[in-house]
Amino acid sequence: MKHQINTDTLEHVAARQLPGGEKGVCNLSLSHEVAFDPFHESPQTGSFVLLDRITGHIVGTGMLNFALRRSQNIHRQHVDIDKQARAMVKSQKPAVLWFTGLSGAGKSTIANLVEKKLFAHGQHTYLLDGDNVRHGLNRDLGFTDADRVENVRRVAETAKLMIDAGLIVLSAFISPFRSERQLARDLLEEGEFLEIYVDAPLDVVEARDPKGLYKKARRGELKNFTGIDSAYEAPNLPDIHLKTEHMSPENAADTVIQALRERGMIS
Ligand code: ADX
Repeated sequence: MKHQINTDTLEHVAARQLPGGEKGVCNLSLSHEVAFDPFHESPQTGSFVLLDRITGHIVGTGMLNFALRRSQNIHRQHVDIDKQARAMVKSQKPAVLWFTGLSGAGKSTIANLVEKKLFAHGQHTYLLDGDNVRHGLNRDLGFTDADRVENVRRVAETAKLMIDAGLIVLSAFISPFRSERQLARDLLEEGEFLEIYVDAPLDVVEARDPKGLYKKARRGELKNFTGIDSAYEAPNLPDIHLKTEHMSPENAADTVIQALRERGMIS
């Protein structure tokens, strides 16, 4: 967002988001190049409609003014040592094991066990964990829907860099929204993103409540808590489905390792 426009006075107002029906000026960043003309030259090829790709609803319309100079002036730098070379020297197939699920479902515990098993097997790994990343890279983010989306976007970009470095990445984030997990998958190449649904019913995770956060949320002392007053969208078709109500963390970790073997990701 650059600014919102007060439609009565045409004044520029500082804003971080545009409420429905409001107007403003923003930079748009796209995942691939599109052809367009400035709106003042050609209204037909200079206007756009933004759709929510899940619901198909229109979430915004706009006019395109100009391409940012940075879109033409920032190039990709070629490097000779590439992902294949880095992966080959480590004798592994880089990928991200993306653990998603409610707080207390067992994501961090299982990811930690899987990493230990991979490490013991000589694999080069890195575990990105929600609580830890939120102390550093993402310390500026909270738990509004928008902040969670940005949290997941940054983690996905970080995982992508680590995959490029040839690593097997494990990520343990609630990552509550289907569309953002899809976005993470889309950033990577086919077969590099494995969605692991760490599934436990709300009453079970609430009874576990390892950090006492569900109690706090129920008392109203913690807002936007996933499962209580913030949504969790379960994966429709996860690559691996772990029902932790009925299996030990050790069993869950073995299931993941077995699935990696079956996919030829580890020997
Ligand atoms: S995510 O939704 O943006 O993916 P993330 O996995 O990074 O969440 O962080 C979740 C962790 O933050 C939880 O394990 C919990 O310890 C803590 N936390 C603090 N406030 C909240 C909240 N409102 N909702 C969920 N988790 C919270």
